[in-house]
Order: sequence, then structure tokens, then C-alpha cells
Amino acid sequence: MFTVNYSGILSEHIGEKDGLTGREIKYFKAQFEQEFKAFVKEHSKLGFCQIINDRSLVTEATEFYKQNSDFDNLVVLGIGGSALGAKAIKNIISPAKLSRNVFILDNIDPFSLNDFFEGLDFEKTLFLVISKSGETVETLSQFMYCYGKVKSLGLDAKRHFVFVTDPEKGFLRKLANEEGLKAYPVPQNLGGRFSVLSFVGLLPAIFMGADIQEILKGAKSIEKNCLEQMFDFSLFLYLLNTRRDKKNVVMMPYCDRLGEFSQWFSQLWAESLGKKEGLNREILRTGQTPIVARGVTDQHSQLQLYLEGPKDKVIIMLKSLEKKELRIPEILTHHESVSYLCNKTFDQLFEAEYLGTYGALIKEKVPAILIETERLDFKTLGGLFYFFELSTAFSGRLYGINPFDQPGVETGKKIAFGYLGRAGFSSEEFSAMKVMLNDKFVCH
Ligand code: PA5
Repeated sequence: MFTVNYSGILSEHIGEKDGLTGREIKYFKAQFEQEFKAFVKEHSKLGFCQIINDRSLVTEATEFYKQNSDFDNLVVLGIGGSALGAKAIKNIISPAKLSRNVFILDNIDPFSLNDFFEGLDFEKTLFLVISKSGETVETLSQFMYCYGKVKSLGLDAKRHFVFVTDPEKGFLRKLANEEGLKAYPVPQNLGGRFSVLSFVGLLPAIFMGADIQEILKGAKSIEKNCLEQMFDFSLFLYLLNTRRDKKNVVMMPYCDRLGEFSQWFSQLWAESLGKKEGLNREILRTGQTPIVARGVTDQHSQLQLYLEGPKDKVIIMLKSLEKKELRIPEILTHHESVSYLCNKTFDQLFEAEYLGTYGALIKEKVPAILIETERLDFKTLGGLFYFFELSTAFSGRLYGINPFDQPGVETGKKIAFGYLGRAGFSSEEFSAMKVMLNDKFVCH
């Protein structure tokens, strides 16, 4: 499905200051061997590993599709892990091949929401409300708006709303029970950002026309064949961070269809590994900041910094090796500036620039990993999802932190609830901030 090339992070190519030595790799592989063995033994109990063998996923998702195939539009209401996986799947499908209109609303900017809802035919729309907790304010506020609208139009809410949420807890589950709305479960041991291979990602996917069996097949293939490769990948990124100070990881796909996948990875890596405390509550402040760049576009924007700015990054370049025949015609042949392009395909140009960037990074001794897919199909995408989920979970062990929680983001939520006057939340912190908020310069 895909290959991973580590030559560009090795000291023999980029020097010992920035690259890992063979000796070091051997030493740390031995050091973490027991940790890896324990992970191999125990990981099948993790929610995201169990889910890929849940047979009900495909049958129930197929049934969901059949029951709702008369809708023209699917609008997904969800955020973070409840949206990014579906966006990544949608991104690999050519817009012309999408079997239905699928919109994924993962923000609450009133300007974009207003524009979107103004153009939406509610009668022809199924709303898939996805929230593991069933309590997320952004998703619930979107839901309330749409629910109110559907009711005011005299439409049957039971037809127009389907939930994906915790099997027992949370507001959405409660409402589904009270109002008799269909609600698909997200297993309790499956966290948001690890949930793409559950109903969270697969219900939107089947509506788009994706082959969800293939997605799951890709994940299972990684589970069967690639645990060792996952160990290497996680260990190398960990060593580059902790021993070579590569605090940032840039995911740079040379493939527009992997742009949303890179955003999905970015959330997974950031929210899982960015932790203040270790497992014994000791202060660690771990993590590696993910940055998403776009090949070739960001060669004209970010690359200068990656090459000559602080040497605190490792670059992961992603490329699909599939070809698409799109040829530059044999014109303007007498102009030296463009004649070399005559009769070349865009594949050739894309490839040349990809290699050019890699070469420039290596020359500047910036560590770079190449991940290349034979083709970008559903199986490969499923494989990529699972590979990075495994790697994130295992990296949690390397850093000695819990990759499945996100305690830091709670503070901001509490301040916002206090501001909105939610019962049980104080507005004190917000009031204390007022002095700071009022201290500003005016520019005319
Ligand atoms: O990974 C996570 O747990 C988060 O990013 C969640 O996906 C996000 O906060 C949305 O949560 P929920 O699915 O409960 O609405």
C-alpha cells in the first residue's frame, strides 16, 4: 500500500548533528524493545484496534445508506475527531464521483454558517450529528439551529436526524431516547480522534460512495503486517524530537487528495502527544508540533523557512505514485524559458519538484521522511489511518504520557461556559480577563 523511506533522517546523509546514527538507533530499539512487545501484546484491547473487527459496522452502515438514499444531501455536524476523518475520506474522492452531496460543518463561524444554511434545501437533507460525548457545544448549537429549522418547516425530525454518539451517556443519547431518534453507538473505549474507522467516519463515507470494506481492509492489513514498521516510525520521530530537538513535524503532501488526511494526522499527533503531565503526574511537557504544508504550493511560501530557519523540524513528504495523463503541449518551442516543458506531463513536473525539495532539504541537513503510496485508494487510506493511530498510541508510551485524554482544552471550555452563563460555571475568570481585553491600541 505504501512505503516509508528513512534515508533522509540518517546521519550518514545529513550528519550527526541533525540525523540519527545507526548505533543510536540500534541502542534505542533495544531499550524500547520490551515496551514494544508489551504494546503488541496489549494493543488489541484498545478501542481503535477492536473497532476494525466489528462486523456490524459494514452491515449497519449499508442499511443506513439504503434507508436514507432518497436524501440529496448529507450534512455532518461534528468537530475535531468527529469531523476530520470524514473530511480526509471525502478528500480522496473526485468531486465528480461523490455519490451524494456531503457537507461537513466543523466550525461555528456565523458568516459561513449563515451562507451555508441560506443555500440549503432542508427538505432534501439528512443531518448526521456526530459527537462521542454528546455534549460538545459547537455541535449541539449547530444541531439546535437545524432541529429548530426542520421543525419549523413541519418536517419529520425522526427522518432528518441521525446521531452517532456514546452508547449510554451524554445529551445526544438522552435526547435520542426521549424523542425516538436513531443513534449509532461509538464504543466507550474509543476516543474522538481515534474514531475514524467506526460509524463516526464510515457513515459519512458510505454516503459519499466510499468502499468502507476496503477502508477496513487497509487497516487490517497494517495490523497484520506492519507493527514493526510502526515501531520504527514512532521511535525515529521520538528520537528526532528528544535527541535532536526537532520540535516540529511538517506533514507535506505532494498530493492534494492527502491535504485533509494531513489535517487529520495533525489533530491526532497534537492532541494525543502534547501533554503537560506524565503518567505519574510529573511535569513533562511533551509533544511535537504538527504543521501542515502543501507541495508544491508551499515551496513558494514555507520552504525557505524549513531550509534556512531554525533547525527544529522533521519533514514528512507524502506522495501518491499514481499517474494522470495531463500533458503540456508542444508550443512556444523557440523560448528557452519554457521549451524544456514541451511535451512533459504534470506528473513529471510534480515528481521533479518533489525530488528537488527532498534534495534541497537533505543538502541543508533537514531531516526528511518519504511516504509513498502505490495508489491512493480506499484500502491505502484505511491503512494510513490505522498506521498513524497505532503510531500515536505507541508514541504515548515512548513519551510516558496518556495519548487518549486532552485535559488542557477543558480550561477554555469552562471560561466560555462561564461567559455564556451556563449553570455551574463561574464568570470570574472571564471578568479577570477584562482588563487585558480592554488594553488595546487603535489603528485608523
Ligand atoms: O479527539 C477528541 O477527543 C476531540 O478532538 C473530539 O473529537 C472533539 O472535541 C469533539 O468531541 P465530541 O466527539 O465528543 O463532540
